[in-house]
Amino acid sequence: MADRRSHRRRQASEGDPPGTAPRRAALRLIDAVLRRGDPLDIAAHAATQGLAPADRAFAIAIVSETLRWMADIDVLIDSATTQVLADDVKARAVLRIALAQLLALGSPAHAVVATALPLVDGGPRRLVHAILSRAQQDEWRLPEHASLPAPVAERWTDQWGADVANAAAAAWSAPPPIDLSFALEPDPSEWSEALALGERHLRLPRGQAVEAMPGFQEGGWWVQDLAASLPARLLGQGAARRVLDLCAAPGGKTMQLASAGWDVVAVDSSAKRLGRLNDNLSRTGLSAEVIQGDIRTWEPGQPADAVLLDAPCTATGIFRRHPDVLHRIEPAQIAEMAQLQAELLGRAARWVKPGGTLLYATCSLERAEGEEQVSTFLAGRKDWAGSPVGADELPGGIVPDANGFVRTLPTMLAEAGGLDGFFIARLRAPSG
Ligand SMILES: C[S@@+](CC[C@H](N)C(=O)[O-])C[C@H]1O[C@@H](n2cnc3c(N)ncnc32)[C@H](O)[C@@H]1O
Repeated sequence: MADRRSHRRRQASEGDPPGTAPRRAALRLIDAVLRRGDPLDIAAHAATQGLAPADRAFAIAIVSETLRWMADIDVLIDSATTQVLADDVKARAVLRIALAQLLALGSPAHAVVATALPLVDGGPRRLVHAILSRAQQDEWRLPEHASLPAPVAERWTDQWGADVANAAAAAWSAPPPIDLSFALEPDPSEWSEALALGERHLRLPRGQAVEAMPGFQEGGWWVQDLAASLPARLLGQGAARRVLDLCAAPGGKTMQLASAGWDVVAVDSSAKRLGRLNDNLSRTGLSAEVIQGDIRTWEPGQPADAVLLDAPCTATGIFRRHPDVLHRIEPAQIAEMAQLQAELLGRAARWVKPGGTLLYATCSLERAEGEEQVSTFLAGRKDWAGSPVGADELPGGIVPDANGFVRTLPTMLAEAGGLDGFFIARLRAPSG
């Protein structure tokens, strides 16, 4: 099967002008994301097989920018032709990736046109050529901010209001800065370019190679958005108490908990992701008991002082670094995830010692996976209560909601580079 695929690829690429291979890969990749609904980072592996690292990175950059600017690019395409180009025809896909190169990545026009036309493969080459010529003649520009896909803009306006939906569009227009979490308070003189965001947390401008940053090998820090660092912060110091870190891989929160003195049991169902967790622990010199298990069936031997459930979710809150999610996730998947989270929350609650703490978190901007999930849990478990988060427990610029839960939104810290969208609830188990 793989042989047949690579034979077809070889045939398709014979006679291609130089530079076409990463664009062909970009076309395969955007098809995998938009038509098959595959996550970009997973589909990238197959779609870019055989490419040199620089070409692979270019193919992924083309697709990321195409996904960010797709609604705006489609408006431009449709303004230039009376011919109806269906959403899923190849000519539209070729135009989308070509215009993303031209308008978002600033690639030279001659290279964009020369490498786009062979991709149309028997489709309307003249139309594609005419639209790309028009883009140059009329000096097309993208708007200041990328538009969210229409169903997302509508859903988020309904849930959070127009200001949040607009802030999300602004945040979506470029990849986010790089946040680092430190095991110990960093020395500011070693990080003069960085912005301090809270205890043991620095923000750096994007575009730097993480492995080349000071101290990577020594392992005193790891990459983690400030919002993603909040759940573990809200459990405080461990003082050798036991915490179950459920859905733990690749281990951002595991490392925080271990460095805060917790005795950590990290559980995740994915062997591959646990491999990354183990690499992270080795690099940072932190330790945890690591278990591969599906928490729908796995059982701990004994209850724990605290349980952190970083539940699987639609990940719509991390749309800045994963621009595919807003094109892939639909209401049916939100409902499906909410159902799984309810099951996992019910199981996690059984494993908390009397009077202990359960921390529930998701990186989703959907109420069904956050506020509604926890209010349903508390409505059915009258013996449980919220353990409200105080404003003084959070970094500046982030405030708890009226129930003492934490909801990070794209409007927060917007001037400083923004935040991922998370929901975090700290709950107290009955004292027995
Ligand atoms: C949001 S990610 C976790 C991120 C992680 N806590 C961190 O801070 O790096 C969700 C994780 O849930 C895991 N997962 C999904 N369903 C699971 C299940 N039924 N049992 C255990 N782990 C599961 C996935 O493999 C994934 O690693």
